[in-house]
Amino acid sequence: MKKLLITGTAGFIGSHLVEYILSHTDDIHITSLDKLDYAGHIINLEHIPGGVESERHRFIKGSICDCKLVDELLSNGFDGLINVAAQTHVDRAFYHPEFFIENNVAGVLNLLRAVENYKVRRYLQISTDEVYGAAPPDKPCGEGAPLRPGNYYASSKAAADMYVLAAVNSKDINASIIRGTNNFGPRQYPEKLIPFFTRRILSGKTMPLYGDGQQMRDWLYVKDFCRAIWIVFNKGEKEQIYNAGAGNHTRNLELSKRMLSILGADESLINHVADRPGHDFCYSVKWDKLSKLGWAPKADFDTALEETVNWYCDNDKWVKIILTKSQDHPVENKFFENHYKNHS
Ligand code: TYD
Repeated sequence: MKKLLITGTAGFIGSHLVEYILSHTDDIHITSLDKLDYAGHIINLEHIPGGVESERHRFIKGSICDCKLVDELLSNGFDGLINVAAQTHVDRAFYHPEFFIENNVAGVLNLLRAVENYKVRRYLQISTDEVYGAAPPDKPCGEGAPLRPGNYYASSKAAADMYVLAAVNSKDINASIIRGTNNFGPRQYPEKLIPFFTRRILSGKTMPLYGDGQQMRDWLYVKDFCRAIWIVFNKGEKEQIYNAGAGNHTRNLELSKRMLSILGADESLINHVADRPGHDFCYSVKWDKLSKLGWAPKADFDTALEETVNWYCDNDKWVKIILTKSQDHPVENKFFENHYKNHS
């Protein structure tokens, strides 16, 4: 059995990644590390093959910033570490950029320190297309494009990428980076556009669309992204960065209308509110490097979007559990109230 440590596994992408690896391999043991912050919940791992505690999976509650815990874990010998753990919501970074530095930068540095000390054979950093800043679909960024992060979330991820590359150079760590476009799918915390708007439509509330809604995102189905992660982990080269995109650029207004149509609701629910400060109008990447490793996005956007929206309809219990839990969180319990008060 090969031993992997994966962080951020009680969140959206992390839980899908654990599910993907366990169901596509039979010689991997995963240790899951997650601090169960506002967006992480053990319920997200309940469906994985074998369950949360099995011969091939164990769960540890804790932070990637905790030196002692990370040392304790990695001193047992690991073949690889995939770091999914991160603060990911742009709107939250306006209020608490320090959480993003702590989790996304200091946490990564702590992992890199331990990877070096305990000679972990492989490290993969999950990053984002947002590090390149705004780029239109006809001028997609390759991996060598300059980094021009446009918000504090993106700058924290860009900083982390720089630390990973420096660790490869100066500490001889066998690391790669993967930068994905906007992921979507089941179990995404209902602060991101698709689950948030679905929840609003289902409760008959308006959808707060920033500005004129003409901004675009390239929507990548989470299962396609997890397949890309696994390919880069196994076949990616040391020090290399790999973009993963989907070719699904869609304007936010258009996406909102599609969601309304899936749910049979009226377009009067669209409410144009004050724009997000420094709102990047579009992100766009080339992923030919990843194609050469044998990856291509497979999901049909319309079908995957419909399935995703329907998943949130059918899993109202999940939404309630995940939101109820996060009400205990000192920052989370005021976020929606405060943020959308400023954006209406
Ligand atoms: P989001 O899901 O927050 O992802 P990101 O900002 O990292 O791309 O937002 C996706 C797009 O939807 C983005 O252009 C901002 C827009 N948006 C709104 O218009 N209203 C909202 O309430 C939210 C959460 C997002």
